[in-house]
This record gives sequence, C-alpha cells and structure tokens, in this order.
Amino acid sequence: MAKNYVIARNLDLYYRKIMNICCIGAGYVGGPTMAMIASKCPDIQVAVVDINQERINAWNSANLPIYEPGLDEIVSEARGKNLFFSTEVDRYILESEIIFISVNTPTKEYGSGLGQAADLRYVESCARRIAEISKSPKIIVEKSTVPVRTAQMVKTILASTSHQFQHQIVSNPEFLAEGTAVKDLLSPDRVLIGGDLTPEGQIAVGKVSSIYENWIKKDRIITTNLWSSELSKLTANAFLAQRISSINAISALCEETEANVDEVAQAIGADSRIGPKFLKSSIGFGGSCFQKDILNLCYLCRYFRLPEVAEYWEQVIRMNEYQKERFVRRILDSMFNTVSGKRIAILGYAFKKDTNDARESPAIGICKRLLEEKAHLAIYDPKVSRQTILNSLGIKEDQANSIDFCKSATEACQDSHCIAILTEWDEFKNIDYEDIYKNMVKPAILFDGRNLLDIEMIRLIGFVAKGIGIS
Ligand SMILES: NC(=O)c1ccc[n+]([C@@H]2O[C@H](COP(=O)([O-])OP(=O)(O)OC[C@H]3O[C@@H](n4cnc5c(N)ncnc54)[C@H](O)[C@@H]3O)[C@@H](O)[C@H]2O)c1
Repeated sequence: MAKNYVIARNLDLYYRKIMNICCIGAGYVGGPTMAMIASKCPDIQVAVVDINQERINAWNSANLPIYEPGLDEIVSEARGKNLFFSTEVDRYILESEIIFISVNTPTKEYGSGLGQAADLRYVESCARRIAEISKSPKIIVEKSTVPVRTAQMVKTILASTSHQFQHQIVSNPEFLAEGTAVKDLLSPDRVLIGGDLTPEGQIAVGKVSSIYENWIKKDRIITTNLWSSELSKLTANAFLAQRISSINAISALCEETEANVDEVAQAIGADSRIGPKFLKSSIGFGGSCFQKDILNLCYLCRYFRLPEVAEYWEQVIRMNEYQKERFVRRILDSMFNTVSGKRIAILGYAFKKDTNDARESPAIGICKRLLEEKAHLAIYDPKVSRQTILNSLGIKEDQANSIDFCKSATEACQDSHCIAILTEWDEFKNIDYEDIYKNMVKPAILFDGRNLLDIEMIRLIGFVAKGIGIS
C-alpha cells in the first residue's frame, strides 16, 4: 500500500514537474497567450522572447505594448514570478522543453507569391535557430497562422540541421480575437492541436494539451492531424470574413430599397442555421489577419491548381474594398462632390473597438481617399497612437499638415463639416451630439460607419445622417 502510494506520488510529481516553455514573438498573440498560460499554470515557467528590444521593454513596463481589456491585471500578477519577457532568444530556446512560434506571417511583399502568399521567413528563421542551438529534443508549436503544409518545411529544416534529436512539430493555431483576447483565452470555444499520428507525435500533442487542461475542459480540446489543424485556421478566418462581406453586399442593396440592413441581419440571424454573430454591417473588416489569411488561402488554391476555389474566396476581399470605396463615395455625394479644405472629424481609427491595433483598419483606406480629395482630417481614437496613424498612412511627421490629432471626440468635431465614425468605441455612443451639432459647420453631416448610433435621433437633432445599409 505504502509502496503504491510512493509510485503514485512520483508519477504525479512527474506529470506536474515544472516545465519550461518559451514563446518566440511577443506580439498580439504571443504576449496575451503566454500571460494566460502563466497565470493558469503556476508550475510552468513561461518566457516570451522577441528580437524587438523596444517591445520587450514595454512588456516589462507599466505601459504594455498592446491594449486589451483585462491584460494589465494578468500580466502584472504573473510577471517576474513565472512569466518573463526577454530578448535572450537563444537562452530560452535552450532551456525550454516546449517552444511556441508566434511570429508574424504577413503577406509577401516581394518575389514569387507577391501580394498573396504568406511570408514565412520569420517562421523559417525561428526553425533554423532552434535547430542550430538545441541540445535536447524539443516540442515546437506553430502558434502563428501558417499555410497548410508549413510543418513539413519546419520538419525538413530540423531534420537536416539538427539530426541528432527527434524534435516534434505540433500545430496549435490561435483563435483569439483582438479586443476580447483575455476573455477568449480564458474561455475559448475550442483549442485546436494537430500533430503527427506517430506515438511520439501523439505524446507531443498530449503534452501541449496538458498545459491547456489546467483551465480548459478536455471536451473543448480538439486534436487532429497536422494538416487539418493548419488548414482549419485559414478556413475559420475565411468563413468569418465571408459573413461580413455577405452582409455588407446586402447593405448596398438596402440603401437602394429602403430595407434596413440591421433589421435584415436580425431576421436572418434568428435562423439557427445561420446564427446572429458576425452579421454586423460596417465599413468592412480589418485587422492583421482576415485579408492576409484569405489571400494566402487563394494562393494555396492556385498553387494546387484550383483557380475556381481561389476566385470564390477572392470575392470576399473585393467586396470589402468595395464597401470602403462606397462609404467615401457617399460622403462625397453628401458634401456636394467636394471635401477640399473641409474639416472631417474621424472618430475611431483602430480596426475594431477595445484594441490599439490599426493594422489593415478600414480607416486607413478611407482616410487616404479623403486626403486625396484634399479634406482636412481631425482624427481621434482613444488608443491608437499618432505615430501608428502616420505610419499607416505613409505620412512623415513634418508632412502631416492636413491632419489634426485630437485628444477627444469633441475637439475633433469642433468646426467640422462632417463626422465619420470609423470604429465602434463605446464612448462614441455617449457623446452629447446636440452640443456637438451646435459647433459644426451647417449642414452638419454625420456618417456612422458602424451603425453605432440611433440614426433617427441624430437626424432629429438636425444632422444629415447616414448609416450603412440604411437609406
Ligand atoms: N493578431 C491577431 O489577432 C491574431 C489572432 C490569431 C492568430 N494570429 C497569428 O499569430 C501570428 C502573430 O501575430 P501577431 O499579431 O502577434 O504579430 P505581431 O507582429 O504583433 O508580433 C510578432 C512578433 O514576432 C517578433 N519576431 C519576428 N521574428 C522573430 C524572430 N526571428 N525571433 C524573435 N522574435 C521575432 C516580432 O518582432 C514581433 O514582435 C501571425 O501569424 C498571425 O497571423 C494573430
């Protein structure tokens, strides 16, 4: 009895032994994901490493490099105990049993696959570094979104450079959404883990799963082969973006027919086969993922000689571009076809609320077009920095004379001809629009690009007001 107890206790200790893990890439995914693991798994030492010193400094400061509701709390709770941010990439690769790769995989901007394929050079350089310096077998986890069959490339690099060890590759794509990252990580719809179907591959999948099992029920953890896991992430993003483009396509028809797109969305979303989520019509989707992942999917389809499939998905992106241009066109039409020299208040620049991320934000294209038309922009966003806005518009600091960067929505709207709401920040719902109206040039125009406001109420104040998919 006593002997059995000792064995059981040793086994328990074995499975609960302190594990060192690291994540290469301290971005919007690597930072929050690892902070959640550290907070839920006090027995695991978690290091997040990056080559960007400035970003690591910010993670180690009171001003985190990314804004996410609830993130400050979980980082400050675990940082310095079992959560570390560092630029010592090699040190943590050597020390870790499990290495997550969470680096950026942008659309290629050069050479073959230009404008469509994923640029895998950062993933490849991580694989090469791990292969070169490892002194023990590792479990390497693809957390970045990658094209299906990327694990084959990683395996080939490891097998040819680090042949003395049998490293395992596991795919574990991340499904968090910016703005709700902490909530999504705390209670995900599912965790997806793909691995080789060999016994070693399955042990690796089990080890990665055991991390998540510290706070996520096992029935929410889906395990598949490597390729299904890699392809599922691209497919999920393509399906989500497709819903937005579908409802946006209908919004154009609503504007011509006096149908109301929000009413149509509510009516169709009540059908349990369709469901209510991702049916909000707007100026279009943004963010670092949807467009690049669909482009990548299209590239893969063409690579595998499936042009009809590629064309099908390309239309989702075309509709997104059309929606932004249509929004600008409607502003111009309402302002007697010229915005030259007119002050336009831009409320919101982030690609969605509750994030400071403006990558691929629809605001970029819309602001560029308005600047081309010689408008004067007064931009206010509660979290996106002036520098991020300038970089995204490709404008240098000393050439920004057509833009005012404002500290509040009220300041931006003061003396403006038109207000364009481009992000659905909650604070824009609570502005005193009556007061704002008094201080605007008449006719005062308001374009609600997120259907955030009660447009009838806004019209009652005196505004010429337009929403999306509302005539
Ligand atoms: N942002 C999202 O909402 C989201 C959601 C799910 C999946 N993803 C995917 O996750 C991946 C990461 O996205 P992100 O938004 O966190 O990117 P990000 O650009 O915010 O962060 C990537 C980080 O990787 C670092 N990096 C690049 N090469 C490196 C190297 N060789 N060594 C060390 N560090 C290196 C960069 O300096 C950068 O800080 C992408 O593949 C993306 O498609 C993103």
